[in-house]
Amino acid sequence: MPTAKTVHRTDAELLLDLEEVVERELNRHLGAAKEWFPHEYVPFGLGRDFDGVLGGETWSEEQSQVTKVGQVALVVNLLTEDNLPSYHHEIATLFGRDGAWGTWVHRWTAEEGRHGAAIRDYLLTTRATDPIALERLRMEHMESGFRSDTDESVLHSIAYVAFQELATRESHRNTGKVAGEPVAEMLLTRIATDENLHMVFYRNLLGASIELTPDQTIEAVTEVVTGFRMPGHGMPGFERAAAQMAVGGVYNIRIHLDDVLMPVLRYLKVFDLSGLGPKGERAREELATHLEDLRVQATRFDERRAALAARQASRT
Ligand SMILES: [Fe+2]
Ligand SMILES: [Fe+2]
Repeated sequence: MPTAKTVHRTDAELLLDLEEVVERELNRHLGAAKEWFPHEYVPFGLGRDFDGVLGGETWSEEQSQVTKVGQVALVVNLLTEDNLPSYHHEIATLFGRDGAWGTWVHRWTAEEGRHGAAIRDYLLTTRATDPIALERLRMEHMESGFRSDTDESVLHSIAYVAFQELATRESHRNTGKVAGEPVAEMLLTRIATDENLHMVFYRNLLGASIELTPDQTIEAVTEVVTGFRMPGHGMPGFERAAAQMAVGGVYNIRIHLDDVLMPVLRYLKVFDLSGLGPKGERAREELATHLEDLRVQATRFDERRAALAARQASRT
């Protein structure tokens, strides 16, 4: 006999059942989020006209004060933020624009809008990257739009964004660390604080979903974790940029496992849950096997990265 916890819920039922939690988490979020201003993080005093209609100075590589890997990562992070209209469309379609869900969707969109604006202002003012290449990449990336792998289910989407916001936090924070420029680090640390609060919102919502419908939620978590791709995966040149960011310590399989997947899974006590039905148990076993595979891959990656670093050190 299906019980309240094992009966399959439709998206419409889930949205209704979780509305109260969304309202509570929204209020917690609004209490915790501190207002901040992107213009304070941009050294406008360094700005000067570019060539083109204003006849200023052409951009060249040596003007950038940011490390090579920092440039690559800043561009990837900015292009990811740039696709906000697509992300907004996805969550507004799935979560709706009414009630607490709608208030969250709009608030989240407004906060995310700040990230792209701040990073672009910083990059252009400090001449940290080629402005023509950047604009061409933005056009190409936004023209292809973004469609998430999880846009057909509320639970899959909640699970995806819980991990994705944390992945984004790590990516911004680590970019700040490797950028080699203190203002960039300050700005990216500030943005990472926002991403952290977004993660907390979705993680808590995912926790409430586990309580409400444990089997269905664990199945969604497993599908999302086993098929996880970064939101920027479709951008031009992503594979090459991702490889540079991996070696550079911005985002790689070790960070993904230790700093993104495991903290959320531990917080939600996924492996301590009792009373799962057969479907939930099967999904959890699949998740455990996948994490074991990732551990092996992460160890191999660590070894390759260490060998690469040793080779580079001996060359210099
Ligand atoms: Fe963001
Ligand atoms: Fe975010």
